[in-house]
Amino acid sequence: MSGVAIRTAQAADRSAIQVLVERAFRQPLEADLVDRLAADGDIVLELVAEKDGDVVGHVLFSRLMVEGDGASFAAVALAPLGVDPDAQRTGIGVALVEEALRRLQAGGEKLSVVLGDPAYYSRFGYRRGPAEGFSSDYQCYALQALAWGEAPTTGRLVYAAAFADL
Ligand SMILES: CC(C)(COP(=O)(O)OP(=O)(O)OC[C@H]1O[C@@H](n2cnc3c(N)ncnc32)[C@H](O)[C@@H]1OP(=O)(O)O)[C@@H](O)C(=O)NCCC(=O)NCCS
Repeated sequence: MSGVAIRTAQAADRSAIQVLVERAFRQPLEADLVDRLAADGDIVLELVAEKDGDVVGHVLFSRLMVEGDGASFAAVALAPLGVDPDAQRTGIGVALVEEALRRLQAGGEKLSVVLGDPAYYSRFGYRRGPAEGFSSDYQCYALQALAWGEAPTTGRLVYAAAFADL
């Protein structure tokens, strides 16, 4: 992880992010999702990891609404997270998520949801328990939640429109 800087993504990073995310996932689906989220203005926080002037990692949080009985709670969804194959397993993914979660909490966010491998995301505090009660097309063992303070554990998860086209 030496020589790697974590910073907020800029408009000028868009094409580098597209290339990086497609390399990380070995398919264009997630990179297209990122582009659509950006175009729709649904990004809450987007960070990149930069090494020697190259974008080698990327994480994105988009707005997610938890719809309850007549109430709507603003949360954030972590997706996607990608690290260049040549730079994986060096701590960049962990550094990106830890920095993003620190900023989100400091910014007043109360709830984050992720769909991913619990073996990876549990290290950040994401847990299956507080996500079990949500109603979602993505409801399964991999749906996890991380709350800072009071946050709903039931309700319908409404993702940004870009996810509907996946
Ligand atoms: C998953 C991914 C983002 C992890 O990033 P990374 O920079 O390689 O991971 P880090 O080096 O920060 O990870 C450190 C730890 O996570 C573990 N880890 C890495 N990838 C993992 C995975 N897919 N599942 C579980 N654990 C994983 C490492 O073994 C390491 O564990 P340790 O600290 O106990 O030794 C990266 O491998 C990637 O881009 N993969 C392809 C895209 C993808 O699947 N993204 C996630 C979709 S939700």
